[in-house]
Amino acid sequence: MPAEAVFIDLLTDSGTGAMSDRQWSALMRGDESYANARSWFHFRDAVQSFTGMEFILPTHQGRAAENILFSELSKPGRIVPSNNHFDTTRANCEFYGAEALDLVIPEGKDPHSTHPFKGNIDLGRLEDLLKKDRDKVPVCMCTITNNTGGGQPVSLENIKQASAICRKHGVPFFLDACRFAENSYFIKQREEKYSSWTIEKIAKETFSCADGATMSAKKDGLSNIGGFLAVRDRKLYESFSNALILREGFLTYGGLTGRDLEALAVGFEEVMDEAYLASRIGQVAFLGEMLRERGVPFLEPPGGHAIYLNALEAFPHIKREEFAAQSLCAALYLEGGIRGVEIGSLMFGKTDAAGNFVPSPMELVRLAIPRRVYTESHMRYVADVAGEIVKNREKYGGYRITYEAPFLRHFTMKLERA
Ligand code: F0G
Repeated sequence: MPAEAVFIDLLTDSGTGAMSDRQWSALMRGDESYANARSWFHFRDAVQSFTGMEFILPTHQGRAAENILFSELSKPGRIVPSNNHFDTTRANCEFYGAEALDLVIPEGKDPHSTHPFKGNIDLGRLEDLLKKDRDKVPVCMCTITNNTGGGQPVSLENIKQASAICRKHGVPFFLDACRFAENSYFIKQREEKYSSWTIEKIAKETFSCADGATMSAKKDGLSNIGGFLAVRDRKLYESFSNALILREGFLTYGGLTGRDLEALAVGFEEVMDEAYLASRIGQVAFLGEMLRERGVPFLEPPGGHAIYLNALEAFPHIKREEFAAQSLCAALYLEGGIRGVEIGSLMFGKTDAAGNFVPSPMELVRLAIPRRVYTESHMRYVADVAGEIVKNREKYGGYRITYEAPFLRHFTMKLERA
């Protein structure tokens, strides 16, 4: 389907934001020298300033950083815990043989819980894992905000404690920091202790708990491409450096042009503007309010970058093996030209050894809001369309798979009406 045939595109908030006038002018100053370009130093200084980490490896996007991380640390027999691994993180981790283990708190799996930090790691389970199997764990991840778990934030208290547990057991603690500024804003709003801190100070405190980070800068880098892998330890840096040169490019550009590095350096600064974050996260909350008024079920509370429609409640008449969330996703496009993405059994469902269908615990449709692109009236339109669909739910049926790839099948699979 050509993107031009989409009216409101909520497929992803990744690389789909609008760059500012300052970013566009920064592009013009890109230094395209192969090595040690001026633009690299702008990028590196910007990333060092909020991560506090010495070693920065630029990559063309988040999954390239994950690939480098796991090509060094993942092996069969190992276990990599996280609150929830994002799907590319899980795939990169499992591709090299380790098990990607999700340890989000129970409230994070309850679509009605209004816990303020549903992205938190279950610290008891983390501690138990490390007590029992410390030698199998090469790294612990924490995704901020927790995309797979509904774009929900992780509290600074939880990050500090998870980090302390990892440090006690000598396990490196890494952030998947795609939406670190949005997470920092939630911390400021919801964690009393930090309500008077600036976003920048909260972000720095967050990164101070980590030994390393991967980031897709297509989110909170406010740019259309980019990412990085950052680390404090020189030995790890050296091992990652070889992989970076092999897969992405020289150490000072990764897969990026000088002009990308310039736009990112400005984006990292703009994203921590509290007024920007208030309007950004406020817009997602506004869509939530409109959906609530129209009786459209979604995962409460609204996330930082997206609303996750609850298809098990919206389409209870569709059988689990017929992908209710995919059906709701198709209905949004057919009725309103709105593109979202299924996060349910297409993405996480499995077939067990006996050939039985094992569904994902939830069937969700993610409506991710691009940054600085849409207005309130676009959001009201989306809510109107979703409201009509839910009212007339009996019109919509399920789907079955006709083609799937062995990894990340939801990116390329084909389906037909069941
Ligand atoms: N980690 C998280 C939490 C993500 O949301 C993403 C991307 C990645 C890693 C990978 O980054 O795409 O730059 O390689 N999420 C996009 C999304 C694709 O739509 O949520 P990438």
